[in-house]
Parts: sequence; C-alpha cells; structure tokens
Amino acid sequence: MPRVLVPTIAVVLVYLIEFTLATSGNTTCAGNMTQWYTDAVGETACETYERLRQICNPNYRVPNFRANAPGDQCDDQLQSCCCNSISWSLSMLCMNCQWDVDGGSATGIDAGVGSYATYLSPNGSFCSPGTNQSLPTSIQTTVCNGGINLVDFVYNTYWTDGSW
Ligand SMILES: *[C@@H]1O[C@H](CO)[C@@H](O)[C@H](O)[C@H]1NC(C)=O
Ligand SMILES: *[C@@H]1O[C@H](CO)[C@@H](O)[C@H](O)[C@H]1NC(C)=O
Ligand SMILES: *[C@@H]1O[C@H](CO)[C@@H](O)[C@H](O)[C@H]1NC(C)=O
Ligand SMILES: *[C@@H]1O[C@H](CO)[C@@H](O)[C@H](O)[C@H]1NC(C)=O
Repeated sequence: MPRVLVPTIAVVLVYLIEFTLATSGNTTCAGNMTQWYTDAVGETACETYERLRQICNPNYRVPNFRANAPGDQCDDQLQSCCCNSISWSLSMLCMNCQWDVDGGSATGIDAGVGSYATYLSPNGSFCSPGTNQSLPTSIQTTVCNGGINLVDFVYNTYWTDGSW
C-alpha cells in the first residue's frame, strides 16, 4: 500500500467513527425500570423520543436529562413534533430510562403539577400549536410511514394539571 494512503485512510476512519457515534444521543437505559417499554417496542423510550423529534429536527440528539422534571424541553425551531403530550410522555419515559441508576428498584421519577407547561415553554413562551393525546396529522403520517412505533400508552398518559 502506498505510504501516503495510510494516514488518509486513518483520517477517513476517524471521521466515520465520529459520525457513527454522533448519530444518537444518550439513549441507553441505566437500568431496567423501563424494560417493559423496550420489550414492547423493540427500542428504548429514548430512541423513540429521539426519532419523533428528528422528524422536525434531524440534528436532535437526546441530551443528558436534568435530574428534575422536565428533563429537557420542547425547543426545536419546528415545534410540531414536541409541542404535544406524546412527546412529553416519551421524554418522561426517557428520563426514567436514563436516570434508572438503581436498576429499577426505586419507584421512578414523577413530574409535579405544571411540569408539562415548563416542558412546552422553555424560554417562557409556549410553543404552538399544541396537541394533547394526539399528534398533528402531518406528523402522525410521518410516524406511520417511518415505522415509528408509538404505543397506546404514550397517547393515553396525560394529566390535565401537567403532572406525570
Ligand atoms: C446519560 O444521562 C444520564 C442522566 O443524565 C447520566 O447519568 C449518564 O452518565 C449519561 N450517559 C452518558 C453515556 O453520557
Ligand atoms: C423560544 O425558543 C424557541 C426555540 O429555541 C425560539 O424559536 C423562540 O423564538 C424563543 N422565544 C422567545 C420569546 O425567546
Ligand atoms: C433489574 O435489574 C436489577 C439490577 O441489575 C436486577 O436485580 C433485576 O433482576 C432486574 N429485573 C428484571 C426484571 O430484569
Ligand atoms: C394541553 O394541555 C395543557 C396542560 O393541561 C394545556 O395547557 C394546553 O392548553 C393543552 N393544549 C391544547 C391544544 O388543548
């Protein structure tokens, strides 16, 4: 192999590895509290959450969630993917997946009254238009066509006072 090619190939490999690592955020569960979800859907709640938000923002990566709910917020420029109670439910499931440090023995992380509103208004102004227990039609169509499996649970889980 010509000597000049070796460093070139090395550089290309490094780029490939970095690209591969960068394509998903913190989507691995720390324990098995949300194992029921992973068993039912075939991926962690964080992976589903990331895929839903990537419909609107391909660069979205699940961040390291804060320890107190809401763990992250609906802050994409195109808001229709996260401005809804389904995205909020998935974010709470994802938070329980990420923070399940004691392996499912604890009761899990709940969200207090008003947390949903905080999720929807990260900088003090509400995202819009919002939907509760359903997705905007265009997003729902993309979810179905893209094979994103949203279990009934994430549509149904909703408290009007914004807790979870
Ligand atoms: C994922 O997030 C959790 C909660 O913030 C954190 O404890 C954990 O270290 C993170 N994992 C990685 C690989 O960054
Ligand atoms: C709030 O954040 C969103 C997303 O980052 C941005 O589009 C919007 O302009 C911000 N609103 C205010 C009032 O800063
Ligand atoms: C969940 O993880 C804990 C700690 O790793 C383990 O003791 C327990 O058996 C696991 N439960 C299930 C249902 O896999
Ligand atoms: C969704 O529920 C939240 C919290 O109860 C509420 O503030 C918001 O107005 C509702 N959105 C719609 C579109 O009904």
